[in-house]
Amino acid sequence: LTKTRLRLYLCMPLLPHNIPHISSGQGNEPGDDLTITYKELLHQVCKFANVLKSQGVKKGDRVSIYMPMVIELVVAMLACARIGAVHSIVFAGYSAESLCERILDSQCTLLITADGFYRGDKLINLKLIADDALQKSLCCSVFCLSSGFHILCFHQVPWNPEVDVCWHTLMDGASEDCEPEWCESEDPLFILYTSGSTGKPKGVMHTVSGYMLYTALTFKLVFDYQPGDVYWCTADIGWITGHSYITYGPLANGATCVLFEGLPTYPDVSRMWEIVDKYHVTKFYTAPTAIRLLMKYGTEPVHKYKRDSLKVLGTVGEPINPEAWQWYYNVVGDKRCPVVDTFWQTETGGHVLTPLPAATPMKPGSATFPFFGVIPAILNESGEELEGPSEGYLVFKQPWPGMMRTVYGNHDRFETTYFKKFPGFYVTGDGCRRDKDGYYWITGRIDDMLNVSGHLLSTAEVESALVEHEAVAEAAVVGRPHPVKGESLYCFVTLNDGVSYNKALEAQLKQQVREKIGAIATPDYIQNAPGLPKTRSGKIMRRVLRKIASNERDLGDISTLADSSVVEQLFENRCCAAV
Ligand code: WT7
Repeated sequence: LTKTRLRLYLCMPLLPHNIPHISSGQGNEPGDDLTITYKELLHQVCKFANVLKSQGVKKGDRVSIYMPMVIELVVAMLACARIGAVHSIVFAGYSAESLCERILDSQCTLLITADGFYRGDKLINLKLIADDALQKSLCCSVFCLSSGFHILCFHQVPWNPEVDVCWHTLMDGASEDCEPEWCESEDPLFILYTSGSTGKPKGVMHTVSGYMLYTALTFKLVFDYQPGDVYWCTADIGWITGHSYITYGPLANGATCVLFEGLPTYPDVSRMWEIVDKYHVTKFYTAPTAIRLLMKYGTEPVHKYKRDSLKVLGTVGEPINPEAWQWYYNVVGDKRCPVVDTFWQTETGGHVLTPLPAATPMKPGSATFPFFGVIPAILNESGEELEGPSEGYLVFKQPWPGMMRTVYGNHDRFETTYFKKFPGFYVTGDGCRRDKDGYYWITGRIDDMLNVSGHLLSTAEVESALVEHEAVAEAAVVGRPHPVKGESLYCFVTLNDGVSYNKALEAQLKQQVREKIGAIATPDYIQNAPGLPKTRSGKIMRRVLRKIASNERDLGDISTLADSSVVEQLFENRCCAAV
């Protein structure tokens, strides 16, 4: 495998104006790109739908997809949809074990994968991981063997003719005509696994009509999509953001989109803005973690590019701290572009709390108001609905079209997880504050709430206060059990490039939080954390940090960690003294 070989995905994007097209291809390397029109995509999808049928895939069957961010991934998912098969995409950063778990749970009979790809400088051998996952699943279960499990591989690597079939060979002979399979509105469209707060991942299931309607509508209104716009969402299709706002929502609107295979920091930290200028991106959607990462390098890498095409900036994935919001708005958007802070979940299918750009007055850090048809409420611990300014559990009072329908294969778990705690409400698991103007502010997962001396504190609030300090790039706060207070505040801080950690800075940071929130929120411990344990999607694993803070070595399942060496380092340098 060489980088050159992966150039297969690439060619130049030169298209007649006003013909809707997806410009699918910004590869990992800056010079590598390709363009595909809607017509070409349809042909590819029909061909691949015929390939799936030739492999015996029928309506209702599950198909696992484990692929990098290339157009073939979109082709594969849409081909499943076309024949009524249920795709289950597994993020290409997941380990063999996680893939195996998802293959078994979804009881799929086909896995679609690729030989490998580069993430920045690093080669990821997907096919080898897929082989490993398959081996593991054979050990756990006989179902794969008995149902004739196949791996359909894109490109060729170690090959087992009894199991492996080649994408290219089958596509070559496939017809471009494939009538879509007629489906009921409530037939399943896909399964996407999301981590449960404890244990096994949940197969969140979405259905055909409601999901597509909801993603199409939210895409159009939340990004104010207009003909001529070029839209770019930097998420990976392996997550719900990519499902809803790279594939289904934009494509249902005939939008012109950029699909990006690479990293925001490769080959350098200007990459995002280089791409924005290259394709004249007008609507841009990314995550706070990416913004904070780039903030560390200052404004110069941003100012190298014009970014004058940009019109709307979106954010998703976690509460955006006001400092990152301001940087996004001021530096990236040159104070011209409304920021849409979109709150939603794998389970909600699409945006549920969000501003509409230029129509909703913004407050940095607030996801503002519910989308049409969504009715939020804030409940206290006893399930009583709170009115006016208040803080508590964020729930929804009535369903909306894009809401998940079940946990695949475990409807009981669906009911228990989302509807049991407060009967009659959908429970998000997030804490939320409503201010006097009726704006909603997500305070973070309720399981990330801290109780210090009887006061409820949100980790996000403390983190935001820390990050406001000029030395700090990122912060993560967890509770450490405390004999008197219940919990004490243990803060991990990643400093900006070139700043060094010392006692004076520590004192300043404590003071800063004390000033921003109050004495009750004064951190008990601050640990210098050059790296934080993150999932491959960029979420900080607070569960792991809590263990580090209290020196518990039994970390449980850390298979979703992007870099496990970070954890050892943090254990070594932890703050031990009691407060
Ligand atoms: C959780 C859902 C939705 C796509 C990506 C994550 C947090 C998401 C926001 C936001 C504050 C947010 C919540 C939510 N979250 N967007 N704009 N402001 N928090 O999908 O992995 O299902 O995670 O992400 O905590 O519950 P997910």
